[in-house]
Amino acid sequence: MDLADFAIAIMAAGKGTRLKSKRPKVLHEIGGQALLLHVIAAAKTVVPAERIYCIVGHEAERVQRAVEGTGVGFVMQAEQRGTGHALQMVKAWFGLGSMPIPKHLLVLSGDVPLIRPETIRAICEEHLREHAAMTILTATPPDPTGYGRVLRIAPDGPEVMAIVEQKSLRPEQLDAPEINSGIYCFDTAKLFSKLDSLSTNNAHGEFYLTDIAAMLVEDGERVVATRADSVDEVLGANTIAEMMHLDAAMRLATARRLMARGVTIFRPETCVIDAQVEVGADTVIEPYVQLLGDTRVGTECRIRSYSVVQGSVLGDGVMVRNGCILDGAEVGDGAILGPYAHLRPESRIGEQAHVGNFCETKKMTLGRGSKANHLTYLGDAIIGAGVNIGAGVITCNYDGVMKHTTVIGDGAFIGSDSTLVAPVEVGVGAYVAAGSCITEAVPEGALAFGRARQVTKPDWVAKRKAARTGGQRT
Ligand code: UD1
Ligand code: CA
Repeated sequence: MDLADFAIAIMAAGKGTRLKSKRPKVLHEIGGQALLLHVIAAAKTVVPAERIYCIVGHEAERVQRAVEGTGVGFVMQAEQRGTGHALQMVKAWFGLGSMPIPKHLLVLSGDVPLIRPETIRAICEEHLREHAAMTILTATPPDPTGYGRVLRIAPDGPEVMAIVEQKSLRPEQLDAPEINSGIYCFDTAKLFSKLDSLSTNNAHGEFYLTDIAAMLVEDGERVVATRADSVDEVLGANTIAEMMHLDAAMRLATARRLMARGVTIFRPETCVIDAQVEVGADTVIEPYVQLLGDTRVGTECRIRSYSVVQGSVLGDGVMVRNGCILDGAEVGDGAILGPYAHLRPESRIGEQAHVGNFCETKKMTLGRGSKANHLTYLGDAIIGAGVNIGAGVITCNYDGVMKHTTVIGDGAFIGSDSTLVAPVEVGVGAYVAAGSCITEAVPEGALAFGRARQVTKPDWVAKRKAARTGGQRT
């Protein structure tokens, strides 16, 4: 379908008073992403960003900053005097003449985040097919309380008489079941011709965009309603509790999408998986796992319980044992992590490598098959293949002012409890004796000790005892 005649306005200027939060409502997150970003992403699948306008007002700068990367335009609604007022600002903006007025205007709500591209397309199609002045997307949820209600002229006909806000419902209308989703298509000229006649004569003292429906009908214009396929996707988020309900719905949808592609997720309701996460077939995700941000996991991996993986890329056949935290890490095929490994940004773990319990890594590479199995800090390090890092080894990367690099060649062996004071280099195949403090380069194939030689005093204990008791045996 050609949507060339369409532009999209997204209402995102409101404060979200019902959230009781300092953060603007549209920047609250579900599925790991701000509400408004979800709506923009859906909008961008039907028209290009140049024809999408976000109406911003409350904390406008903060909202703009959060979504400017999407390339959408902005219309300022400095004072938030209602959804009708928001569209008055759009009209005024087009009045400036920098962009031609689109024939049709699709209006989305920044706080209705689960809306799917298919549904947006469907309402646009319906709008064109019906030759309507206004097309309203509706749903019939189990509990319609709080929403505006769409009153049809005939129950089974598409024509609408009016939208009535919750607070304006007459007693006999209170259980009108069909809700207004806050998503509409307008014939732009017809919408613009009515906006100036809106009044604030209502319970909230606001300009209601919803009043446009009855005004158009009064003019003999065609206003129609079309039901969304699923109720969930048109639910609004006015309170934190409602938002968390949407978050759960979205994450369950993500889990289902992954399971449909062959991923096993035990107890998916306990897992927190962001919408953009990708996981390969035959990977197993245990309960209470979090996969966040742009994380990509290969095939045949296992992610054990209580691990949190953020913005990381895992190859195939990776084992993440319990309680690992990965942030901005890259992990090669067949690597084994944890339990309780902490991989910080720019950690690159090679194929078949092991990073074991209580190991912390940062800005480093660990070559193929290398092992750091216990209690280690490896930061600002370049570690070759087949290296063995003993328990308790620490790269001392920070001199109080600058960070320095430790380089360890292929096949080297770093004995337990050694400290490598960077900048320092351990050559290929070199050995560092346990308990060493290495401050100078260790050449290829060498053995380096960096510790005091052991002193052993035979019978020392007995001699001391004797000295204390003045030579008297007791
Ligand atoms: C609105 C509808 C209601 C519908 C519901 C669906 C009106 C009068 N009512 O009610 O019929 O059932 O959505 O979720 O439209 N906004 C602005 N500028 C403003 C006021 C609001 O941009 O001056 C934005 C908000 O940021 C929000 C959206 O418009 O994203 C909807 O506003 P909100 O106050 O949440 O309307 P509801 O009371 O939910
Ligand atoms: Ca709302």
